[in-house]
Amino acid sequence: MILNASGCLDALTAPDVARGLDAFVTKTVTPRPRAGNEPVRIAETEVGMLNSIGLANPGIDSFRRDVLPRLAELELPIWASVGGFSMDDYADLCRQLDEDPVVEAIELNLSCPNVAEPAGSVAEIVAAARAATSKNLYAKLSAASGDVGSVAVAAADAGADGLSLVNTIRGLALDPQTLAPTLSTATGGLSGPALRPIALAAVFACFKATRLPIVGMGGIATGRDALEFLAAGATAIALGTILFSDPGAPGRVRGELAIELAARGLAEPEDAHGLAHREDPAMLPK
Ligand SMILES: Cc1cc2nc3c(=O)[nH]c(=O)nc-3n(C[C@H](O)[C@H](O)[C@H](O)COP(=O)(O)O)c2cc1C
Repeated sequence: MILNASGCLDALTAPDVARGLDAFVTKTVTPRPRAGNEPVRIAETEVGMLNSIGLANPGIDSFRRDVLPRLAELELPIWASVGGFSMDDYADLCRQLDEDPVVEAIELNLSCPNVAEPAGSVAEIVAAARAATSKNLYAKLSAASGDVGSVAVAAADAGADGLSLVNTIRGLALDPQTLAPTLSTATGGLSGPALRPIALAAVFACFKATRLPIVGMGGIATGRDALEFLAAGATAIALGTILFSDPGAPGRVRGELAIELAARGLAEPEDAHGLAHREDPAMLPK
């Protein structure tokens, strides 16, 4: 299953790209509208991209009234990403979306490096969200915490149905001439190729710790990358930064993944699930 990473695709302006996905994940929505951070909010580095968008979004009321009905026209499963600054924010957002038949799953953004951390632990927020919705609930975690496996266990114990791994990691880019920070916020979230081995390790650790379904993301750009995330324990993968340079990535990665699977004697993506954890590291069936 191939999804987009939250905030990396606007399905309403690029519906053809969205239709190449198995489900569309919205940009994170918050209780009230947010303008986001001042420009400059994007910087390129040799190993990925830094962003400090700061959760710019129209707020939940406009999202439900204006955005969700239009997303429904795509006839794709819609995952709503939600973010807040307190347990009550998350619970309230989940309660509202629980009533909306357009939303198939809710992703809790617990890990945005560009806004203040929400008050309350991951366990408390997931528990509050769980009490507010019976929809499929995914906890999106960062690899920045020392032991993401333990955080994943806490999310699982609090009632998460799955995990989205990972969000960006804080990074800094300096203007080569002035040596001042390029982004208005100084630091931003690093995504793209540099994140990939870090994300892969997080998926590996969280599969081992929880066996929950996992949407793996972080620098995935090819079918080979996607295969590695499945082997590490992901049940689905999401494309983020690659969509900015290659909007055709969903179809391309899907085709490349099929070739990578076939080359290893694997019939379906599910056959690769968790393979990196097998006790017998012998060759794969041919
Ligand atoms: C421009 C931009 C905006 C993003 N906005 C969000 C967001 O609103 N909510 C969220 O959970 N993650 C957001 N992310 C993080 C991505 O969903 C994803 O976790 C991260 O970029 C790693 O995947 P990638 O390396 O394939 O891009 C954003 C990333 C980028 C680059």
